[in-house]
Amino acid sequence: MNDISIIGTGLWYPEELTTNKEIVDSFNTYVDNFNIENASLIESGKIKARSHSSEEFILKASGIKTRRIIDKKNSLNPNIMKPITDNEDESKLSFLAKVGIEAAKKAMSEANISADQIDGVILGTSHSGRNYPAVAIEIQEELGIDGYAYDMLVGCSSTTFALSNAYTDIASGMADTILVINPEITSPGFNFTNRDVHFIFGDGCVATILQRSNNFGFKIIDRKLVTKFSNNIRSNLSYLNRTASDQKTEDELLFYQNGRSVFKEVCPLVAKTILEQLSKNNISPNEISKFWLHQANGKMIRLIVSKVLGTDTFDEDLAPLPMKDFGNLASAGSMFAFNLYNDLKKGEKGIICSFGAGYSIGSLIVEKN
Ligand code: COA
Repeated sequence: MNDISIIGTGLWYPEELTTNKEIVDSFNTYVDNFNIENASLIESGKIKARSHSSEEFILKASGIKTRRIIDKKNSLNPNIMKPITDNEDESKLSFLAKVGIEAAKKAMSEANISADQIDGVILGTSHSGRNYPAVAIEIQEELGIDGYAYDMLVGCSSTTFALSNAYTDIASGMADTILVINPEITSPGFNFTNRDVHFIFGDGCVATILQRSNNFGFKIIDRKLVTKFSNNIRSNLSYLNRTASDQKTEDELLFYQNGRSVFKEVCPLVAKTILEQLSKNNISPNEISKFWLHQANGKMIRLIVSKVLGTDTFDEDLAPLPMKDFGNLASAGSMFAFNLYNDLKKGEKGIICSFGAGYSIGSLIVEKN
């Protein structure tokens, strides 16, 4: 059997950048207005005054400098503080399908393949657009692909788990070529008025083509998936909200996390996962030419790489940080890094690894063909 390789990737993201200064200015104006409007409640101790955010904190705590979001104007308007989106309209392509198709076309062009060569579409995301029909099937129809398509949700590891499913389908003989699509339109799902999270995320989509091939791209040498239940990163948005007897506010249903615990618990787990995987494959950590890691936090990436390599020196060329420009792209981050920084020579190896909500970790060792 031929190897199974990643033969092309493509990205979609909003053109316009939003800087830390812009997001902090908007947040601080919102806070000032809130504190003025609620002065008497704050005075009487019924509610707490809100605090300003700061550019220095954001850069130091996360490493993020800019992000790209689908509706900067409304998300940064202190009187709105969220993107304005449309409900789905059956006569039009859904938004997730639209961005997915844009990324998919770039991946297909890089892989030099046409729709009739693709056997299936797997869409993985932590932000599902609707319950059904699967967005992957909508994309399949629009691109004119035969075969099958489905959506899957694994939080921040939805991309690597989808790549793993694609690998399994090809290895089993069910398919020769799979298109994996990972839209992460995060901005409608987090709270621009919450100081702890308003700066974290960006919007984007990555598409990847896997094929039975040993001539192009990167062959997948090994896959390792790990999950361990945690409530430390959670979103309670659900169709059950409508019928719940205990009504929650809109804000309570959005993304929340215990960032410190995530940091402390996930970093050692990821380093252990990668070290075990390398050892099983008789690969020394020093043989890895690139770490394409989940793009949530620069400090996490530094810590994980230093644990894996057993050194304190950090080389950004070895573990690229596109999160500086794009923010945290949920599950799409590691493959964004792969798309942007994959100048390896034949025989050189790299690790694509996602981690986050679940907890979930997905790790793939790849080698340049
Ligand atoms: N501006 C200024 N100060 C802020 C702030 C902001 N926007 N947000 C929080 N702070 C304050 C806090 O109130 C706290 O103040 P205190 O010490 O007086 O209580 C202090 O800064 C430190 O807050 P903390 O939340 O402990 O910061 P942190 O160093 O842990 O960084 C994260 C926060 C979210 C950037 C970091 O924990 C992280 O990235 N964790 C991993 C998250 C992750 O991977 N999630 C996966 C999602 S895909």
